[in-house]
Amino acid sequence: MSSYDVIIIGSGPGGYVCAIRCAQLGLKTAVVEGRETLGGTCLNVGCIPSKAMLHATHMLHEAEHNFAEMGLKGKSPSVDWKQMLAYKDKTISQNTGGIEFLFKKNKIDWLKGWGSIPEVGKVKVGDETHEAKHIIIASGSEAASIPGAEVEIDEKIVVTSTGALELGKVPGEMIVVGGGVIGLELGSVYSRLGTKVTVVEYLDAVTPGADGEVAKQFQKLLKKQGLDFVMGAAVNKVETNGNKATVSYKLRKDDSDHELKADVVLVATGRKPYVEGLGLEALGIEMTKRGQIAVKDGFETSVKGIYAIGDVIEGPMLAHKAEDEGTAIAEMLAGQKPHINYGLIPGVIYTAPEVASVGETEETLKEKGHAYKVGKFPFMGNARAKAVFQGEGFVKMLADKETDRILGCHIIGPGAGDLIHEICVAMEFGAAAEDVARTCHAHPTYSEAVREAALACGDGAIHV
Ligand code: NAI
Repeated sequence: MSSYDVIIIGSGPGGYVCAIRCAQLGLKTAVVEGRETLGGTCLNVGCIPSKAMLHATHMLHEAEHNFAEMGLKGKSPSVDWKQMLAYKDKTISQNTGGIEFLFKKNKIDWLKGWGSIPEVGKVKVGDETHEAKHIIIASGSEAASIPGAEVEIDEKIVVTSTGALELGKVPGEMIVVGGGVIGLELGSVYSRLGTKVTVVEYLDAVTPGADGEVAKQFQKLLKKQGLDFVMGAAVNKVETNGNKATVSYKLRKDDSDHELKADVVLVATGRKPYVEGLGLEALGIEMTKRGQIAVKDGFETSVKGIYAIGDVIEGPMLAHKAEDEGTAIAEMLAGQKPHINYGLIPGVIYTAPEVASVGETEETLKEKGHAYKVGKFPFMGNARAKAVFQGEGFVKMLADKETDRILGCHIIGPGAGDLIHEICVAMEFGAAAEDVARTCHAHPTYSEAVREAALACGDGAIHV
């Protein structure tokens, strides 16, 4: 039996960042991880592999659609699917190996196996029980099935995001159930590979919670790229027949029943906390109605000495939210007083164009009755974006009508996922739109579109 200051269960972005921060602050730290490699869902079967696939297929799209116009002639590349998956796997192992290196460097023990908490202060991994002053649950999430529907996931024909990153071949037809982040990122990947992709979404707009105008433009651009959409459709059954699958759905507007068939069905209707086998019930740990671990300020559960962070607790299921919570709990245990600004957690969808947002949307401001103004600038007025065939999106800044303080920003366009952070910093410092508008931005960069949107909150943008 070994004794630690902290044992963290789970090595995803929440768990591994927490471990490194604990070690940096002088706490003796171990991480329990049952996968073959560190990094959790994000590095092994989520964010990182999907970004490799998005990059590879974006390159293919560029070759097929834009090379000739730039004077790059010759045969379009063909897809070697095995090699593309190998590239994706190499990207994964480089990143998971990197975490293993960081653990060694920071003298963090990896307790290999699936952990449970038999009693307060103890973590069992395999036949061994270890002691810890503090236990942090960072066990993440798993794909949720379709609420109220009959679905059998085999990860071959009916797949979650995990199976979608490992398909035996590029399917001819794919149905994506759920027009959220996972559905649209992976739907884009396969659409660019030549698959006929149909997204079946319950709501009337894609990406729930997004700014309405951005969601509309996003769906329009995806349609133009070849994705089909069935909106306002509640999927109630997914069944496999031989090599095909059938998706049954009801259109909400008239209750009519419909069916679609495809080679592969991707179920992307959300994720749920993964807490299996931890022994939470026996410990009496309180859960929320939605099956998350309930925590108080400071991430402590209803049981003293046991904490939880990341996807297993409330809040957006985002790697960077988990990382910030991992850092914060480590600092709290070391006696510091960290703070997370939950109003400023950016969201990014890594399609082409990217979609990024932070803060309030027009919809949330209207709901709150908060008087605001809108500064909007199209990438069509941005020289750099036009030069690289990316002039179709826009930057939309929302600022307080009276004080000009920035309340939110929504970007659809090139590099949106990076551009948004200028606004995150500005908002963290309580900046006004004018502060961004008066800051010199290099020319020619996409960031000028952000400045122009800030200008549009005042007297007006220049390039419109
Ligand atoms: P999501 O919550 O983003 O989207 C699920 C969609 O499925 C919703 O639009 C919902 O209306 C729809 N839906 C639910 N039931 C349905 C039914 N019966 N028929 C038709 N449509 C139905 O969930 P998603 O995309 O699975 O992602 C899960 C989590 O992973 C999210 O919290 C997301 O933020 C996170 N994630 C984040 C990424 C990023 O930040 N780039 C990438 C991938 C995942």
